[in-house]
Amino acid sequence: MDFCSRKELIAQTGHQPEAWPLVVLKEAADNSIDACEDQGIRPLIFVTVDARGIEIADNGPGIPEATVESICDFSVRVSSREAYVSPTRGAQGNALKTLIAMPFVLSDQAGEGRLDITAHGIRHEITLHVDRIRQEPVIERRRQSAERIQSGTVLRVHWPDSSCSILQRAKHRFVQMLGDYTFLNPHLSLIGDWFGERWRVDATSPAWPKWRPSDATSPHWYGVEQFERLIGAFIAHDADGSTDRTVRQFVSAFAGLSRPDKQAKVLKETGLARVNLSALRDGDSLNHELTRKLLAVMKNHSKVIKPAALGVLGKTHLSERFSALGCDMETFNYRKVADVTEEGLPFVLETAFAWSPDAEGRRIITGVNWSPGILNPFRELGRFGQSLDSILERQRAGEDEPVVFLLHVACPRVEYTDRGKSAVVIGGEQHSDEEE
Ligand SMILES: Nc1ncnc2c1ncn2[C@@H]1O[C@H](COP(=O)(O)OP(=O)(O)OP(=O)(O)O)[C@@H](O)[C@H]1O
Ligand SMILES: [Mg+2]
Repeated sequence: MDFCSRKELIAQTGHQPEAWPLVVLKEAADNSIDACEDQGIRPLIFVTVDARGIEIADNGPGIPEATVESICDFSVRVSSREAYVSPTRGAQGNALKTLIAMPFVLSDQAGEGRLDITAHGIRHEITLHVDRIRQEPVIERRRQSAERIQSGTVLRVHWPDSSCSILQRAKHRFVQMLGDYTFLNPHLSLIGDWFGERWRVDATSPAWPKWRPSDATSPHWYGVEQFERLIGAFIAHDADGSTDRTVRQFVSAFAGLSRPDKQAKVLKETGLARVNLSALRDGDSLNHELTRKLLAVMKNHSKVIKPAALGVLGKTHLSERFSALGCDMETFNYRKVADVTEEGLPFVLETAFAWSPDAEGRRIITGVNWSPGILNPFRELGRFGQSLDSILERQRAGEDEPVVFLLHVACPRVEYTDRGKSAVVIGGEQHSDEEE
């Protein structure tokens, strides 16, 4: 029932119902772009809002039926990526579950909520209502043939009529957020359709290089805590499937350790050759001395990943987008910092600014790991917890000024302070006033 009341769903998504159309867009678009990148496909997403609801279609590999099945099982979280440390858009593994519950909660829990997922020639019509006797959600899935759609995924959230005004009021920010995606993703092409009003934005750099969700994770991105979490997740996962991977197999999946000679060195120095991963277990916990040693040795034998390998939006791309917004390009200013945090995490921070004479007010585009913030995720910056907003105000770029400002950070370990991924702490770093 964690998803089935207004209060619970506000906690799960981190946002009030007024912002739920934006939550749908963010979660679905993140999934679509991630899936395309994983397969090396240049992402094209098609977002339609009409009287029936919100639809996000992509040209990706198509969500597998087994994944749809597990999304419908509210007793498990889906994402296998949850324990990995990597610069990804989403990794909690429950976003689609919140989207199943959303239409039900919006209909004041009266009728049924419905979400359709179409992929691989099948349309899964997923409905949710609550069994009031057992206080349990009842999720039903009907499979229909949808031969017309053989590739990609189409996700449609049936927005209840009774909440149509929420959708209408979200229009401005919804359309803006679609634009934000094209600022933060040089390889993305996008078609938008709001009740028949259509527009298209083409990729500025279809072959844009960036770190892909399927790329190997680096030992240098882990502290002992995250490392033990990953090992624990693997041991538990293996035990469920009655297998037990070796330490060598575990090590081989990391960036810089895919070569057998490297693995041999790690195993020799840790004394873990021909040992299964479950040997790191110590009762209900892990042998901390061993996991610490393993992590240190793995770091020793692998190179660090350079910040730029995460992906850089770049001046050319951003100036094209700013120019298309009608900015005065004489005033365009771009800065980039590609560095490593005190904890050794690579990051790329980019900002861009321009005066936009015809704009009605300030436009701020913020994002973390190529996904735009619904709210500005940089609400507290620096040692004294100032917000990005107050810093801009001080720079005479207040809310009413016709300026465009962009701030993006890519970093493998981003700590969100809430479940809705709407506020971030990056690398635990604190910058001083001057550095801001
Ligand atoms: N458009 C899509 N194309 C292909 N696979 C998809 C698509 N959308 C979702 N998936 C698969 O479904 C899984 C579950 O998606 P969901 O959004 O619920 O979780 P997540 O993306 O792993 O994490 P988060 O909760 O942070 O979004 C994804 O991990 C992915 O494997
Ligand atoms: Mg997701």
